[in-house]
Amino acid sequence: MGRGIPESFRFPRDFLWGAATAAHQVEGDNRASDWWAAEESGRLPHRSGRACDHLHRYEADFDLARAFGHNAHRLSLEWSRLEPEPGVRDETAFAHYERVLEALRVRGLEPVITLHHFTAPRWFAERGGWLAADALDRFAAHVDAVVERLGSRIRWWITINEPTVLAKHGWVSGDWPPFRRGRWDLARRVVRRLCAAHRRAYRRIRARVPDALVSFAQSIPWVEPCDPTRALDRLAARLRTAFLVDWPFALVREDGRPLLDYVAVNYYTRSIVRWRPRGRALLFGADCHEHHHGPRRFDDLGQEVWPMGLLQVLRRVARLGLPILVTENGIATTDDGLRLAHLRGHLEALARALAEGVDLRGYLYWSLLDNFEWAKGTTARFGLATTDFATLERRPRPAMRLLAEVARTGRLFPSHREASCA
Ligand code: FCB
Repeated sequence: MGRGIPESFRFPRDFLWGAATAAHQVEGDNRASDWWAAEESGRLPHRSGRACDHLHRYEADFDLARAFGHNAHRLSLEWSRLEPEPGVRDETAFAHYERVLEALRVRGLEPVITLHHFTAPRWFAERGGWLAADALDRFAAHVDAVVERLGSRIRWWITINEPTVLAKHGWVSGDWPPFRRGRWDLARRVVRRLCAAHRRAYRRIRARVPDALVSFAQSIPWVEPCDPTRALDRLAARLRTAFLVDWPFALVREDGRPLLDYVAVNYYTRSIVRWRPRGRALLFGADCHEHHHGPRRFDDLGQEVWPMGLLQVLRRVARLGLPILVTENGIATTDDGLRLAHLRGHLEALARALAEGVDLRGYLYWSLLDNFEWAKGTTARFGLATTDFATLERRPRPAMRLLAEVARTGRLFPSHREASCA
């Protein structure tokens, strides 16, 4: 049992356990979206194609989640399906998502619903995307349509996924649509816009869905200075946290409080930062890899596995005084042992946070299945279950069994059986 966790520790009975997905990454055939258009244009190295064909297989996927002890599930409603042309709502797409929400309900899976997870309708992007003058009105009208038709079925809402990540890839590193490089000015405007879109969506949802819990999801790394004795490294760490974490929280404030009903935390990694005079490297550049940090483990995308960073992040966001939901956490690897070690470490971080009194409501693993990982295509494997992209067969990994045991028993590391699942 980990330090600081009493032997009697149990996860709360109503704790939300589940996995997270996003429409473009799992559904397949997402033809009316800006990502599909970019894939077709050849500007992205991979095509999503039928992805996991979750569009047609969602019931079997939810059966799988249920069978492995999940009681919650995060997914995104694809805006480009619901509004394929400006102002035109596709009733068959609304009916589809109504069936999806019903399929979750009958299986006892609490929906956690994202309204914008990186993709947008192609027409929206062609008119200037988030920087267009009417972008916020367009998104607000879409939110209204979702609230009106599906709102009564949704309690947990995520308006926008990871504003800083979208801005970074789309306008700074330029490897995602709209492929702008080094445009810090535009990236900052996009973050502001996305946070403004959140504020408007928050008010609209809360006005019409009385028991709604509304948030936006932030990617929150744990940031440390490379050399804690160097003032400039400490400053670099503070600046990175200020930009990536604190600034978006500040941008969703109104009348002195954040327009959030809970904090949605996407946590993947630690970032150890060394001072560099140039902005891009400071905020997003290569971290320091000096040996005084001891042996470090990395996943297939080069992200460090650092479970105690999750505890640090939870302690930090707890200062906002709101409930917290971990809406993403996972690892890109095909090594089952590493995935198990990653999951154990992060479960321990959750348990320590709860034992300390952090108001943590649940944990959603990224992801249910190996899926289409944006510009990495299917090369990065994040699933609790593998996806065979030729046959589309899903196969649970040992980590899925471990999570099921913890969800079932409420105990951290319920037995040693899971170690032999590999
Ligand atoms: C997050 C994204 C999610 C997935 C994971 C690996 O930043 O929200 O869609 O790509 O990373």
